[in-house]
Amino acid sequence: MPVPRETFLSSVWRDGIFKDKVLFCTGGAGTICSMQVRAFVALGGNACITGRNAEKTEKGAADIASVRPGAKVIGIVADVRDMAAMEAAAERCATELGSLDFAIAGAAGNFLAPMSQLSSNAFRTVMEIDTLGSFHTAKAVMPYLIQSVQKHKNSGKEEPTGTGGRIIFISASFHFRGQPLQAHVMAAKAAVDQISSSVAMEYGPHGITSNVITPGPISGTEGMERLSTADARSVKESKAKIPVGRWGEVKEIADATVFLFSDAGSYVNGVVLVVDGGAWRTTGADMGSTWKYPGFFLSGAVVEGVKGGKKSKL
Ligand code: HXC
Repeated sequence: MPVPRETFLSSVWRDGIFKDKVLFCTGGAGTICSMQVRAFVALGGNACITGRNAEKTEKGAADIASVRPGAKVIGIVADVRDMAAMEAAAERCATELGSLDFAIAGAAGNFLAPMSQLSSNAFRTVMEIDTLGSFHTAKAVMPYLIQSVQKHKNSGKEEPTGTGGRIIFISASFHFRGQPLQAHVMAAKAAVDQISSSVAMEYGPHGITSNVITPGPISGTEGMERLSTADARSVKESKAKIPVGRWGEVKEIADATVFLFSDAGSYVNGVVLVVDGGAWRTTGADMGSTWKYPGFFLSGAVVEGVKGGKKSKL
């Protein structure tokens, strides 16, 4: 069943901007990553996606390829925890598709568990998938990304052959403030953010850019299925606490990806781009029932006793 274009891509992007370029994405059959890859392929590129489950990965690749006639998308079975497997996957991608110009380190593992129920092996498993896996991905793709940016220079001018040599790591915002039941993920994603910083510093001189995309709560994703309750009232309350008042759409992560890979993102390096409607800034922001977020801001009420504090008009 073809996915309608408006569900994974805004109409603001120009067709063909990734023509003849190749994206390598770990965990590429997942709900968020598959839409990022789909957007890239819709805009002219080809791709390799990796995953541990052969059936899911191959089906994911075929689904994504259906987005554009002539698109090539290869599904490769590989575990990000295995460095040799990642090197072999990157080599196969570059050989079969002719280059490897962009990468997304997207493979992740998550489940809700308090530390009291988290075994050493459970903690290690998520650290190995998210953190070690991101490190392996960066190491495996870097020789090819460097070759790409030598051909498609990151000069700040609009290069005739477009862009190349860019990597995005997918992270989470739990470690910005703290999130119960996510000790393993907070540790793993904080480390992922820092791996991206190291890539930005150490490979930036070669022309590479490295950035993190931090999705907030995105509708219809495996992450939200695992992490949110099915209870409609709490979902409503969770949305109300987000400054823009809603969960995000997969397309909003794909759009951020296209921005960072396109000429529009050429001078963006070493950042954490949080695409969450402002959610992480307000999580837990209620300071008692009087100033409940966001009702207080919508009610017209004032905080009494603020020195010199006259309420200005909206
Ligand atoms: C406590 C758990 C557990 C749970 C597994 N473990 N699930 N402990 N609570 N719910 C423990 C196991 O008991 C075992 O420890 C250890 O973790 C390893 O489990 P395995 O099943 O052997 O591991 P593995 O097959 O490698 O599976 C990895 C996994 C699994 C992370 C546990 O869930 C997985 O493959 N997930 C991949 C897909 C995924 O999670 N996607 C969601 C990404 S969403 P013991 O001690 O028993 O040996 C995401 C978004 C976040 O990251 C941001 C959203 C806003």
